[in-house]
Amino acid sequence: MMTKVREFPQGVEVASILGAGTIGASWTALFLASGLEVDVYDPSEQVEAFVRDYIEHAWPSLERLGLASRGNPDRVRFFKTPEEAVARAQFVQESVPERIEIKHELYQRIENKLHPQAVVASSASGLLVKEMQQGWKNPGRFILGHPFNPPHLIPLVELLANEKTEEGVLEWAEQFYAACGKTTIRVNKEVPGHVANRLQAALWREAIHLVVEGVASVEDVDKAVFAGPGLRWSVMGPHMLFNLGSGGHGLGVFCERFGPSFHRWWDDLGNPRLTPDVIAKLAAGVKVEENGRSFDDLAAERDRKIVEASRAMGQAESAVVESAAKKARLVTAR
Ligand SMILES: NC(=O)c1ccc[n+]([C@@H]2O[C@H](COP(=O)([O-])OP(=O)(O)OC[C@H]3O[C@@H](n4cnc5c(N)ncnc54)[C@H](O)[C@@H]3O)[C@@H](O)[C@H]2O)c1
Repeated sequence: MMTKVREFPQGVEVASILGAGTIGASWTALFLASGLEVDVYDPSEQVEAFVRDYIEHAWPSLERLGLASRGNPDRVRFFKTPEEAVARAQFVQESVPERIEIKHELYQRIENKLHPQAVVASSASGLLVKEMQQGWKNPGRFILGHPFNPPHLIPLVELLANEKTEEGVLEWAEQFYAACGKTTIRVNKEVPGHVANRLQAALWREAIHLVVEGVASVEDVDKAVFAGPGLRWSVMGPHMLFNLGSGGHGLGVFCERFGPSFHRWWDDLGNPRLTPDVIAKLAAGVKVEENGRSFDDLAAERDRKIVEASRAMGQAESAVVESAAKKARLVTAR
């Protein structure tokens, strides 16, 4: 899944990162690993030390994922202004704070300084593309490229373009992200939270409801996700999985058979709010320190498991492709 190396669109050699905090630093590591030079702008005085440290820590995972074969962690440069940081770049990933006035001001500063071929993507989680486009005189080469944290480990990028986007820009961006090992989806209609955050929100809403109603503890609700459907969801989506749950009769038959059960469950789902009481209950349920594991230990465990799962899936995919190729060879040989 993540280990396929694809070609960048022609002429792409330099990427620019605007805003190098949690998300921008991770993008920087990924773009370097993918073989690009990366020009960074962030007004923070600590930015260079933070990003270099981030790259050093991320690099072994990128190597294990097979994403760093073309890369060089030292090909990063830091600039004092966004105008300088975008000047050479054919691709710009903007990851500044989620405030519309900061994004607009930045777009106004860079618009006339961009490389003529440049596509600019925003990492924004909550702002609408049509709001962000108002910061541009011509938003034709500006799109949404929304990652999942951390972008160097989680393959998904949600892309959104609209009627103001120039023809071919979305396809160009898809090729660019594929060359960095990403899996892209197209969001065809603008809604708050795009696609994946809405799915997360829907599941979390019911997880909280189950805790609040005393149906299960925080720990057991988490287990019910990662040891149950979560494992399946990491390889296929819910529609395909239910299709496979039909005993070979197809998703239509599955829906007819289990529709009444789902309707009953949907009618009974909760709609909690994050009130102080609810927050206290959830926070008490994750008691990290009491279990003798630090925040850093848990974060390291998460990243190690993500890398190993992605590797296993990459290897499983290669095995499927190999066995399909072998079958094809046998068929042709016959
Ligand atoms: N954190 C997440 O889980 C996550 C996931 C997906 C998308 N995003 C989106 O990514 C974007 C950045 O989020 P983050 O979590 O990395 O925030 P962050 O606060 O960690 O980093 C933002 C960085 O931008 C810098 N900055 C401030 N003003 C700037 C300017 N004018 N020009 C350039 N840099 C500037 C800050 O110094 C900081 O280093 C937001 O739009 C957010 O919605 C975040």
